[in-house]
Amino acid sequence: MMNGTCEHSMLSMKLGFHWKGTKHKQLEGKDSAMKVFRQRKPLYALFAMLVLTMLLAACGNSSSGDNTGSNTGSGSTANGKGCKNVGVLLPETASSERWDSKDRPLLTDAITKAVGQAPQFYNAEGDATKQQNQADTALTKGACILVVAPFDGQAAAAIVAKAKSRGVPVIAYDRLIQSKDLNYYVSFDNVKVGELQGQYIVDHYKDYTKSGTNMVMINGAQTDNNAILFRQGALSKLQPLVEAKSLTKVYDQYTPAWDNDKARTEMDGALNAQNGNVQIAYVANDGMANSVIAALKAKQLNGKVLVTGQDATVAGLQNIILGDQMMTVYKAISKEAQATADLVKAISDGTDTAGVTNGATTKTADGGAVPSVLEQPVAIDKTNVKTVLDDNYVTKGDLCKGLPAGAGGIC
Ligand code: BGC
Repeated sequence: MMNGTCEHSMLSMKLGFHWKGTKHKQLEGKDSAMKVFRQRKPLYALFAMLVLTMLLAACGNSSSGDNTGSNTGSGSTANGKGCKNVGVLLPETASSERWDSKDRPLLTDAITKAVGQAPQFYNAEGDATKQQNQADTALTKGACILVVAPFDGQAAAAIVAKAKSRGVPVIAYDRLIQSKDLNYYVSFDNVKVGELQGQYIVDHYKDYTKSGTNMVMINGAQTDNNAILFRQGALSKLQPLVEAKSLTKVYDQYTPAWDNDKARTEMDGALNAQNGNVQIAYVANDGMANSVIAALKAKQLNGKVLVTGQDATVAGLQNIILGDQMMTVYKAISKEAQATADLVKAISDGTDTAGVTNGATTKTADGGAVPSVLEQPVAIDKTNVKTVLDDNYVTKGDLCKGLPAGAGGIC
């Protein structure tokens, strides 16, 4: 709990108490002042106790406030130097299959290679308080670098504050944490993700709008900064069509926790409100798109409505091959995990992280500029599903499981 200077000062004070220690005995004869001290032994002891108490208090403060010291205790290392114990906090499992099937194994591999030790893993299962408690547990277990995909990007600022007070750097993973004290951010260009979704609609809406122009927007969770950026990117492409009355926006809502079941309720509601007259469904990810497709199937409308998605999940790609979903956005999570591990390694080795972030920064709501790595997303439709196979993101075996032979010209 103390830095080097404090440790040294307190050691000297402790030695000072050893009145009859050899070193002090030798000094006694030479130093006349010592005689005075000997006569006033109780007073000196009191004074020494006072100084020791003050030193202890000062050292306690410096270990929790100023994080430039070399050792913050509980196995952790200030500013992550020498750190091997990495805590990874993921937000949900149900919102997208990516968290369990991609992020967790890819981060485990890449971080283990980077520091020679497997990270501690936690999943908040859609609960901000739980995530806060998991961060506390990770820190108590000595995590000295935290990788956090926040469930709630505002609430997770408290995690950054606590980590900072212990000299533990935080990398926001995939989703931004709104704190200027955040150390790093690794994600994709999330506005671009929305632009790709919007542009697909711009390029193809005419094939679906012969009987009407109604568009619903089923967005992700408003507590996830990404969901806001996806919608912003999509609207930058769609708004001109709405203004020109080529498209009519009849529904536009955020979906708490990206709850896939809630997306079904939303789509049922929108279809009922429009008497089934919906032509375009902008849906933020594949998990929710699958629910929207179920709602469309119940009304024999699947394949007739343009549905978007994201994550290039097996189910999403199958829906594309079957013609029920028109596009998804492929984000190479292996690159995201690798960039995170590169940062972890640079922090742990004490080398310059600028070599990883290359000057890129992301603004936080409270005015921060966080060094960032932002990877590029790719739009996928039935014409380029092969891209995802070629990248080994999904295997042909998984993709074709349950599909008829010859499906999509792939299976
Ligand atoms: C991620 C998406 C994911 C969504 C729901 C977003 O923050 O970027 O890939 O589909 O969360 O989990």
